Amino acid sequence: MTEGPKGGRSAPFEIAKVAGSLGAEVRGLDLAQPLSGTQAAALRAALAEHLVLFVRGQSLGMAQQKRATEIFGPVQRVPYVEGSAEDPDVIAVLKEAEERRIGVFGGDWHSDFSFLERPPAGSLLHAVEVPPYGGDTLWANQIEAFETLPDELREIVENRGAVHVGKPHGVKWAPQPGAGLSRSIKIRRGDPEADRERVHPAVRRHPSSGRRALFVNPIYTTRLEGMSEAESAPLLERIKQHATRPEFTCRWRWRAGDLAIWDNRATLHYAINDYDGHRRLLHRTTFAGEAPVA
Ligand code: SIN
Repeated sequence: MTEGPKGGRSAPFEIAKVAGSLGAEVRGLDLAQPLSGTQAAALRAALAEHLVLFVRGQSLGMAQQKRATEIFGPVQRVPYVEGSAEDPDVIAVLKEAEERRIGVFGGDWHSDFSFLERPPAGSLLHAVEVPPYGGDTLWANQIEAFETLPDELREIVENRGAVHVGKPHGVKWAPQPGAGLSRSIKIRRGDPEADRERVHPAVRRHPSSGRRALFVNPIYTTRLEGMSEAESAPLLERIKQHATRPEFTCRWRWRAGDLAIWDNRATLHYAINDYDGHRRLLHRTTFAGEAPVA
């Protein structure tokens, strides 16, 4: 479905939803050029409404991508992952064609860096080179996940903290020795700040919309507050199953030049690793967020 222009005459872009729960394509926008204040405000409003935006055909250098990132908030240099040589604020999300049977950055359901005191508010991912098939990305709407949570799980997560640990892929999913992530992504390990426990509300209120979202991270959440890891494990598994139900997701088939912009406070995402033998390169920037509030 295509909606009319958003934001009045001076913000002539169209919005077309890509799935029922979240995600919309924005048409008629060139982010290589600076946006007017009205256009920027309309784009922020579109992100608050749809949680993930996709803009095709964007020709963006790193500086232009950073300027587009600043529409949503200050650029945040991501800790623990080495930035690109050209600009440390930009991560090159890369898997080379010869890197077979190896993990990829973001290859399980997660939100970004939830183990930080102030996890990022969102990210932009710009496709530079994409495989001929596969390499899609999924997002899941955590507002809808919370609003439809079965009562017994809702009673458990409401007014409770969830414990997040970086380490740096999360304790449960830390790579086996000798196995590992694509060598093209350089993670700094053994940082005590990433390895410590950090408690955030398991249900957070979104600062823009005021709506509540589940904030439990399948990679970084090790346990629910007041429970051991063993007690938490079956509950976390049930929460994950619910939070990632296909009805709450959208899936993006990348073309070179596509830009995705997502809200990290109310979504999970998942990079599908099904393109062995082909190169995939995307540039990722992040914008800063606030400490989650219940
Ligand atoms: C990520 O930011 O988690 C990576 C997403 C992707 O490569 O599709």
